[in-house]
Amino acid sequence: MLTKIGSGQEYIAMGAELIKAGEVVAFPTETVYGLGADAQNSAAVAKIFEAKGRPSDNPLIVHLNEFAQLNAIVESIPKLAYELYNAFCPGPLTMIMKKNANIPDIVTAGLDTVGVRFPSHPAARELIKQSGPIAAPSANASKHVSPTKASHVMEDLGGKIPLIIDGGSCDIGIESTIIDLTGAIPTILRPGIITREMLEKVCKVNYHTGEVRTALAPGMKYVHYSPHCACVVGDNTDSIAALYDQSVAKNQKAIILAKEDTVTLFGARECWSLGKDGKEVANRLYALLHEGEKKYDLILIENLGDDGVFYSIMNRARKAENRGSR
Ligand code: TXA
Ligand code: MG
Repeated sequence: MLTKIGSGQEYIAMGAELIKAGEVVAFPTETVYGLGADAQNSAAVAKIFEAKGRPSDNPLIVHLNEFAQLNAIVESIPKLAYELYNAFCPGPLTMIMKKNANIPDIVTAGLDTVGVRFPSHPAARELIKQSGPIAAPSANASKHVSPTKASHVMEDLGGKIPLIIDGGSCDIGIESTIIDLTGAIPTILRPGIITREMLEKVCKVNYHTGEVRTALAPGMKYVHYSPHCACVVGDNTDSIAALYDQSVAKNQKAIILAKEDTVTLFGARECWSLGKDGKEVANRLYALLHEGEKKYDLILIENLGDDGVFYSIMNRARKAENRGSR
């Protein structure tokens, strides 16, 4: 299949037509690129799982344009959903609620809940406006790093999907924060740029801890979203330098991803700056993993701690870590 790629209203309109016709389309969001299909068309949604090679027990997020569209897909709208919407949406927050019968089982992998998100990227908003609710996971091949540029999508899914709407580089660069609103206390299932501290200004929240039950957050049991080369998170400068030197001694090429202010600590070793603050690091991490896997045998990521958004960034770095098992 020929995969078209382009930007602007013409390609958004083409995307909406394809989605209404039961096809899949990759589109930009402010977090990462998504691979979308009509959320109410089971056969169309099945094509998403096929193109990605995604396990069928991992549910998809439904992307909406307006709060009122929720009425059509959830059992009832929790008051908290409205409050969180007002505080953070449109934007990088996914809320889990009880679904109704309008959402087919394939979207939620048989769960009685659905994840809902209102992306802020103008191209995503326009696409949803023209096509209706879109079910979409990230537009990467299953278990690979999420795409933050149209070219990343082309590398993973080119030839398998009819269209990629190019919206440039994603502003945020890591996937949305997921909060489950179905329990007694709202629970963060996936941390993101909207941090626990930010959510706590609106409501009490817990992080999900303990054993991961399939029914709770299926995506949590798929640990590797890693680059095609070896990837390791190093605890400190010395251990990273040692791993780098060992790798080079074996005639392998290694690259270190470190914060701007620590790059100089690695001397003559090859190093890319992740940026100076959380926002920059989130924005660059996946793009550098995509770039690094093409040129290096080993990517070493500096441990950036767990303060605020760095907690979310390190959550993704740990998922990218494969210790060479790929
Ligand atoms: O930023 C994002 O959220 C991006 C963009 C494209 O919107 N999407 C994204 O989708 O990251 P995906 O499929 O790669 O990750 C969605 C995660 C998965 O881990 C899935 O298991 C979880 O959300 N999820 C979806 N529906 C759920 C539900 N009803 N209950 C628990 N977890 C759910
Ligand atoms: Mg994903």
